[in-house]
Amino acid sequence: MKTILVMLRSGADHWSKRLRQALPNHCVVTDAAAAGGRVDYVVTSVPPKGALAALGSFEVLFSINAGVERLLAGGEVPPTLPIVRMVDDGLSEGMLEWVVATTLAWHRNLFDYREQQSTLTWKPWAEKLARHRTVTVLGAGHLGAPVAELLAQIGFRTRVWSRSPKALKGVASFDGPDGLAAALDGAEILICLLPLTPATENLLDESIFARLAPGSILINCGRGHHIVDQALIDALDGGQLRAAVLDVFREEPLPRNHPFWHHPRIYISPHVAAPTHPETAVAAIVENLRGYEAGQPLKHVVNLAIGY
Ligand SMILES: NC(=O)c1ccc[n+]([C@@H]2O[C@H](COP(=O)([O-])OP(=O)(O)OC[C@H]3O[C@@H](n4cnc5c(N)ncnc54)[C@H](OP(=O)(O)O)[C@@H]3O)[C@@H](O)[C@H]2O)c1
Repeated sequence: MKTILVMLRSGADHWSKRLRQALPNHCVVTDAAAAGGRVDYVVTSVPPKGALAALGSFEVLFSINAGVERLLAGGEVPPTLPIVRMVDDGLSEGMLEWVVATTLAWHRNLFDYREQQSTLTWKPWAEKLARHRTVTVLGAGHLGAPVAELLAQIGFRTRVWSRSPKALKGVASFDGPDGLAAALDGAEILICLLPLTPATENLLDESIFARLAPGSILINCGRGHHIVDQALIDALDGGQLRAAVLDVFREEPLPRNHPFWHHPRIYISPHVAAPTHPETAVAAIVENLRGYEAGQPLKHVVNLAIGY
C-alpha cells in the first residue's frame, strides 16, 4: 500500500479526509512517523525548513499551489524529484471570475463612480465598448489562456504574451522577449498571470508601463515580485497608469508600513484571486496519481530548468 503524506500548515485533516475517501487503497497520513517513516507521495504547499530532507527519498511531490517559486526557493527539493504543480478547474474558474470582474469594473469605471459618490460628484467618464479597448494578458497558460479567450469573447481586443506561440480563439498571440513590445504597445489594461521565475522577476518596470496607453490599468494576480514597486508608484503618480489592482505582493501579508496601502490609485486584495479549493484540487491530484500508477506519465510536472 502506497503512503501519501499531507504536509500542510492548515487544513491537513480536511485534505487527508478527502484523499482517503478518493483513494481507499492508499494510506493517507499527516505525520511521517504515523507511516512508519516510509512515504511515497507528499502533498504540500511550502514545507517547513528541513521537513522534506527528513523524509528521505519519495516518488512525487504534489504542490497544492499553481506557483511553485517558494517551494523551489528553499533549495531543499532534490533535482530529480518530480514536482507536480496544481492545475485544476477550481483554480482556473476562480481566476477567470476574478480577472473578468476586475477588468469589467475598470472598463466601465465602476470604482471611479463609487469614489465620486462620496463627494456627491456627477461626472460621466468616457464609456467605451469593449471592442474599442485593448487588453494584454501576460502569461497564457492554464490560467491566462481561458481569461484571454473570455475577454475576447466579451469583445475586448485581446493579446497574450507567452514563451511559445498560442492559438486562442479571437486572441492575438505574441511570444518571447522579441514579442513583448508588440504585445504591450497601446494596451489600456495589462493583466499579469505569469509564474515567478528568474526571467519574469521585476519584469513590470518603467519601460513596460511606458509602452501602455497613457492612463491604463494594471491588474496583477501573478506574483508580487513581477512588479518593481517604486516604478509602479512613479507610473501612477505621473499619470501613465490610472490605477493598479494588486492581489499579490513581494511580502504577504503586505506590511502595514508599505506605501501601497495608502496610495489612492492602488486597490489591494489579500491574495484571493484564485484560492485552491480542496474539493477540486484533490480530484486533480487523484486523477493524476491514478494515471501515474497505471503507467502514464505524470501531468503538470514543473520544469526545473525554467522554474515553472
Ligand atoms: N493570485 C492568485 O490567487 C493566484 C492563484 C494561482 C496562480 N497564481 C499565479 O499565476 C501563475 C500562472 O499560473 P498558470 O497555472 O497559468 O501557469 P502556467 O500554466 O505554467 O502558465 C504560465 C504562462 O506564462 C508563460 N511564461 C512563463 N515564463 C515566461 C517568460 N519568461 N516569458 C513569457 N511568457 C512566459 C508561459 O508560456 P508557455 O505557455 O509558452 O509555457 C505560460 O503561458 C502562477 O505561477 C502563480 O504565480 C496566482
